[in-house]
Amino acid sequence: MAAAAFAVAVASPARADGDAAPKPLRVVSPGQVLAVELDFTWFRQPIYRVSRFGEPVIGNSWLGFTLKDGGRLDRDMVVVGEARRSVDQTWEQPWGERRFVRDHYNELRVRLAERSGAKRQLVVVFRVFDDGVGFRYEFPDQPALKDVIIDDELTEFSVAAPSTAWWIPAGQPTDLELPIHQTPLGEVSVAHTPLTLRTRNGLHIALHEAALVDYAGMRLRRTDEQHLVADLAPSSEGWRVRRSAPFVTPWRTIQIADSAPALYRSSDLILNLNEPNRLGDVSWVKPGKFIGVWWEMHLDHWTWGTGPRHGATTANAKRYIDFAAKNGFRGVLVEGWNVGWDGDWQANGDSFDLTRATPDFDLKAVAGYARSKGVTLIGHHETVGAVSHYEDQLAAALDLYRSVGVDSVKTGYVADANQIERRDAAGVVHHEWHDGQFMARHHLKVVTEAARRHITIDSHEPIKDTGLRRTYPNWLSREGARGMEWNAWGHPVNDPDHEAELVFTRMLAGPFDFTPGIFVLDPTQPGCRVKSTLAKQLALYVVLYSPLQMAADRIENYEANPRPFQFIKDVPTDWAETVVVNGEIGDYVTIARKDRRSDNWYLGAITDEEGRLLSVPLGFLTPGRHYRAQIYRDGDAAHWKTAPLEIAIEEKEVTSADTLTLRLAAGGGVAIRFVSLPTHASQR
Ligand code: NOJ
Repeated sequence: MAAAAFAVAVASPARADGDAAPKPLRVVSPGQVLAVELDFTWFRQPIYRVSRFGEPVIGNSWLGFTLKDGGRLDRDMVVVGEARRSVDQTWEQPWGERRFVRDHYNELRVRLAERSGAKRQLVVVFRVFDDGVGFRYEFPDQPALKDVIIDDELTEFSVAAPSTAWWIPAGQPTDLELPIHQTPLGEVSVAHTPLTLRTRNGLHIALHEAALVDYAGMRLRRTDEQHLVADLAPSSEGWRVRRSAPFVTPWRTIQIADSAPALYRSSDLILNLNEPNRLGDVSWVKPGKFIGVWWEMHLDHWTWGTGPRHGATTANAKRYIDFAAKNGFRGVLVEGWNVGWDGDWQANGDSFDLTRATPDFDLKAVAGYARSKGVTLIGHHETVGAVSHYEDQLAAALDLYRSVGVDSVKTGYVADANQIERRDAAGVVHHEWHDGQFMARHHLKVVTEAARRHITIDSHEPIKDTGLRRTYPNWLSREGARGMEWNAWGHPVNDPDHEAELVFTRMLAGPFDFTPGIFVLDPTQPGCRVKSTLAKQLALYVVLYSPLQMAADRIENYEANPRPFQFIKDVPTDWAETVVVNGEIGDYVTIARKDRRSDNWYLGAITDEEGRLLSVPLGFLTPGRHYRAQIYRDGDAAHWKTAPLEIAIEEKEVTSADTLTLRLAAGGGVAIRFVSLPTHASQR
């Protein structure tokens, strides 16, 4: 089976022309788990391969580029330099799924040069961890290669074993938000990353990238059997990337683990491959929960545009602020507050004015009212994909928010694939992809401009997450997959397995503003439905990580259900530790997380359309401590379709020596808060 993967002929010591053949260079992970070899084909094209405990995982796979006006930069190359180092360090996150992250790898840096012609150089750097590999290219400063125009990146991933793939098709309308496909790898066409694979032997692999800075997003195109090749998002100019040397590409990442939970854990590698925090003191960055003038618009009760059903009125905003203050929410999002939404807003990006409120919304008064109640108004910048128009008003729009005390902004890029508007210096409009180089630059412009004003960003219809939150910790969250809102729109709604798929696909990349917490599960429109039980909605606050979590439902629905709502009030959004207790892609998953600001733990378990019994040892709790487990579970008759609201809420005292048997209904879940008891109380 690996034969096809190793079909590229490699150099051998006995070349007929008598040339000394380049020898493969090898680097192994610190625990001798993974090994990477850099080798060469007969025509001296660099290739790499990856093995795990000696077994091939990624077979011979090409490296290199096709350059505009420069032909291929991958032929007739020799090694002109080699450097190695080992790193083992632990760094602290300002916020995240765990407080401390270990960064432990062996690195091989190889300088390649063409043997003839301009003798252009290219550096390849491999970092090999026990649970994954990152590699990137560096274009060094060199006279023969200044203006680098990349027509194609030739990087391949030749997957050795037949595999099942979980993937999102790329280059389609509603890009990134299509339902996740599960097919044999041999049926993948062009996929977004992370692309998750499970091999026939049970190995779990995820292909993605880290530190996507000033470069085009990498999609993966299947070329043959199990071969995937980088397919960089195009620019409107035809090329994929244009840069001046010296520069580095994003890291290409291959996470490799023997189980779904271990695959999730291996995502630390994405953060490790990003640069450390560039913003300095980020104590102004505040994770937290929010509610919003939002779901009512998606239900079509209210409108973004002005008129009798306008949602963003001063009165509605104040009502939401009162509710947030009463129930301990940090923020209130208000969408539809600015001029531009009237009429067919999705066609009117150029008329969006992000410095002017509608007549029925007094921005200053609402923000001041929020402040007086200890709540912050969360700003909203919908761009409708008119990105140059947005950039023209970006500074003023952020200044306005800053002036009224708004410290968090949700951005939006509602536009079809390849419909982002870029206006050039001559005023001509070009259409770009959400994941092209132009948008990679744009998002960092927004994030850095926001950081200068101590504002955090939550991007919807974003570029994919590649771990840049490490470098820019004010990039708190984003969408970038199919969220809750699809359940209000239909065509189609999310299936019960969606979230258990998300955990091992989209969530490998980073936080997702999914917007859970819907209590009325059958919105009014025909065909719309949240295919979940109420207990599963609670569990999602633990399972789907985001430092910003929305309680997405109407406040009336929370007021009517105070007991389950208590869990949403209690659950934090910033964690000291995260443990994926069990899980299979698309079937079920249990995640336990320790609060960053107390000794309490929280657990969420969710399942697909199958009911399940899950045995959960509580070994993650601190030994010797007693905890009061507040359990929100599916009621005995619960079923996402027939009895979604059946919930049982109970308490019991537990320790780390206990094992809980969790019963999850079809489409259901369990949410648990483990309250750490004072020593004297636990002895009772
Ligand atoms: C799509 C976003 O995902 C959603 O949250 C927002 O309400 C609408 N766009 C309008 O901006």
